[in-house]
Amino acid sequence: VFLYNGCCPAYFRGCVCISDDWPGYSLDLFSYPAHYSGDLNSVIIPHGVIMDRTERLARNIMDDLWDHDIVVLCVLKGGYQFCADLVDRIKDLSHNSTQTIAMRVHFIRLKSYLNDKSTEDLHIVGAEDLSFLAGKAIVGTGKTMKTLLKHVESFKPKLIKVAGLLVKRVPCNSACLPDYVGFEIPNRFVVGYALDYNEYFRDLNHICVISETGKKKYMI
Ligand code: HPA
Ligand code: MG
Repeated sequence: VFLYNGCCPAYFRGCVCISDDWPGYSLDLFSYPAHYSGDLNSVIIPHGVIMDRTERLARNIMDDLWDHDIVVLCVLKGGYQFCADLVDRIKDLSHNSTQTIAMRVHFIRLKSYLNDKSTEDLHIVGAEDLSFLAGKAIVGTGKTMKTLLKHVESFKPKLIKVAGLLVKRVPCNSACLPDYVGFEIPNRFVVGYALDYNEYFRDLNHICVISETGKKKYMI
């Protein structure tokens, strides 16, 4: 999840924009795990829409980077599902055409959220030695890019591209936006599709808004 102040919407290559007054779909219209009943307010992006958008991002990445050897750097934990689905779609495109991308996949872990608040002490866990990136193109997926990008740049890759499923419109600017964006969303805490609230809701396919009951239930 990326944060941005909403002042440069034209930046994105036709990003799907979800407006502030979008109430979301009623949960009754979709299926979701029964253990979360009462814990969610609405579905803001159904799983199928995420998959359709991801397919198109894969196409865009393919158009830009085909014929490159790339290192995919998946940012755990929240980025794992998006990364897996994006890599799958790129693989599908590589299998069905003469344009191919050779991919290696690495993982890095960033942690900064407690409950629904971002904490200052962001830390990078695992894969600190990124020297394998030297001279490679990278597609990162995940959150808290600024810190990570600085770290990644120090290993001197040839090209860095960032893919993010969600960009959140927030009042203050993080000045660091992905090259490939799935959806621009309102400034609300969302869960599902590997995004968590204290490790819960990763087992939910849709991207949803958590309810007050849900927040209380899983608060630590
Ligand atoms: N949900 C889950 N994790 C997050 C979010 C969010 O809305 N924003 C940043 N990390
Ligand atoms: Mg989290």
